[in-house]
Amino acid sequence: MAEPGELGRFGEYGGRFVPESLIPACARVEEAFRDAWSDPRFRRDLDRLLAVHAGRPTALTPAWRLSAELGINVLLKREDLAHTGSHKINNVLGQALLARRMGKTRLLAETGAGQHGVATATAGALLGLGVTVYMGEKDIERQALNVFRMKMLGTEVVPVTSGSRTLKDATSEAMRQWVTCVDEAHYCLGSVMGPHPYPWMVREFQRVIGDEARQQCAAELSTGVPDYVVACVGGGSNAAGTFAGFADTGAQLIGVEASGGAAVASGQTGVLHGFRSYLLQDENGQVSEAHSIAPGLDYPGVGPEHAHLNDIGRARYVTVGDDEVVPAVHRLARTEGILPALESAHAIAWVIRAAGTGELPPFSTVLVTLSGRGDKDVATLMEADPMEAGPMEAGS
Ligand SMILES: Cc1ncc(COP(=O)(O)O)c(C=O)c1O
Repeated sequence: MAEPGELGRFGEYGGRFVPESLIPACARVEEAFRDAWSDPRFRRDLDRLLAVHAGRPTALTPAWRLSAELGINVLLKREDLAHTGSHKINNVLGQALLARRMGKTRLLAETGAGQHGVATATAGALLGLGVTVYMGEKDIERQALNVFRMKMLGTEVVPVTSGSRTLKDATSEAMRQWVTCVDEAHYCLGSVMGPHPYPWMVREFQRVIGDEARQQCAAELSTGVPDYVVACVGGGSNAAGTFAGFADTGAQLIGVEASGGAAVASGQTGVLHGFRSYLLQDENGQVSEAHSIAPGLDYPGVGPEHAHLNDIGRARYVTVGDDEVVPAVHRLARTEGILPALESAHAIAWVIRAAGTGELPPFSTVLVTLSGRGDKDVATLMEADPMEAGPMEAGS
């Protein structure tokens, strides 16, 4: 996957659609990122933080029992094992180091599932930067555990009460606030979205997932490369990072969207939060609300590079509904002893549905990125189906 072209575009998507007052701030982030990314000292510092603080490399775990049940060979890239419980820490350590290099003293962030907020709170504590996180009221209720974790780490969590009170509104508020404090604060965006250079920069900070997985697959598989590479897509950062490691191979790249937030499957081209991409819209072109049981996928848009990968046919995007996600969590828990995040369970649910069909033929080798762990979702799961937590019946 290449650098974006002129004006920060991937094909016709991306760009920098922000108020004039933010254009110089975005340009400074781009300049600082280009400089840092080509500086071996920055790369060494980041690699060291990823190793000694975030616990990289994360494991590649063969899912033996699930594979036997499905008749395919499933390998899990275990971002749930990264410090703070998801892939979000990879990007945040990169941006926090960059912010410090730029002389910033504070980080601003938006969060939906709370995982990006917890990662930012963690990096702020580690590097001595103040942190303010904007979070929709609905997500504050759904993700109380992560709100408490952020506060323990010394972060201010600001409830956002507008609109759907989820990630879209939290992102709008964080961007609005950035305008008022660009001199001292870096906006630490959590996915491959927003104005250029964020979609590109965040993908580069997340490519560690794909690069590690590529090496691990080479050691694990006789074919070297899996037939399919699958990851869930909210904004699309864990998918973009995973795909980056396999873009130059013959692997089929599959992004799994929540059916209620399926911007690629059901959206039209539009502009939101500083970038052009596929967006869920009503008949008047107004951005529609997304709905997903997974707060990290509850976003009406998708990163611009995914829109482009879809258009050129390099990646395929599929959808999974809430009703398939909860059983997928239980199935992985019971076959592999792993409780995945609701977001990650979308990728598992698609694999379960597609296994043995023309979409995922018998004996295929499938790499699935497990973007995070499910501790944060236990309350939601209990509410969804408390009886499911009981003993499993034979054959289920
Ligand atoms: C565990 C987990 N997976 C996936 C996502 C979706 O984000 P992205 O599509 O940027 O990977 C989130 C977002 O909060 C998350 O917490």
